[in-house]
Amino acid sequence: MVELKSARDKEKMQRAGLIVAEVLQILKKAVKPRMMTKDLDHIADFEIRDRGAVPVFKGYHGYPASVCVSVNHEVVHGIPGSRRLKEHDLVSLDLGAVLDSFVGDAALSFFVGGPPDETAQLLLEVTEDSLYKGIEMAQPGGHLGDISYAIQQYVESHGFSVIRDYVGHGIGHQMHEDPQVPNYGSPGRGILLKPGLALAIEPMVNQGDYEVDVLDDGWTVVTRDGSLSAHFEHTIFITESGPEILTRIG
Ligand code: MF3
Ligand code: CO
Repeated sequence: MVELKSARDKEKMQRAGLIVAEVLQILKKAVKPRMMTKDLDHIADFEIRDRGAVPVFKGYHGYPASVCVSVNHEVVHGIPGSRRLKEHDLVSLDLGAVLDSFVGDAALSFFVGGPPDETAQLLLEVTEDSLYKGIEMAQPGGHLGDISYAIQQYVESHGFSVIRDYVGHGIGHQMHEDPQVPNYGSPGRGILLKPGLALAIEPMVNQGDYEVDVLDDGWTVVTRDGSLSAHFEHTIFITESGPEILTRIG
């Protein structure tokens, strides 16, 4: 069942979203070569709570940390630990926080220092741009499939692939609400988009094939072919006049 939110709900979601956006920027700035990924988890946990919010991921189906840190061929759900980041690593950070019983969820990817090569840089840019292509299509009167199609078309036109096994989602009181928001699909299909719909749109894009595996830790999703993967996510809210991004600073 897809729940529509009120203007009051939107204000609350905006506050949760801003906290997620701010903390993601803090984490991105904190990343240095040789840093352990668990150091990022400590910062994430502290900064979220310091803003009066609570990390959503921690304890979610037993997930052990406040942030997901997925490096290079890791797609999503990487568990922070004693791994040390190094120059040219592609780091994806995914963060969720709940404030006043509403959830914000966002993710971004970047390189430690700079990209290892031009294709990796293109992968990063295409993934981020595909998120905005999808968001543009989140218009009242449109269909969910318009978002999915826009993302898939853009990504595949650059020779990259979108993950099939993990999708975006509705969001509100719960991190994961209906509907599912795939990064692949057909225009005009799926539910009708209406004002009051809140979605987490999150393209996960592989440089190579879209097939993935889950590591023995039960969480870390990796590309089967070992190719690089990038991930960007925003929580958005559909209004009468179009989509508003709730997890963007400024
Ligand atoms: N942004 C991810 C998602 O929407 C984060 C979930 S990680 C988990 O699914 F640890 F909470 F599961
Ligand atoms: Co999400």
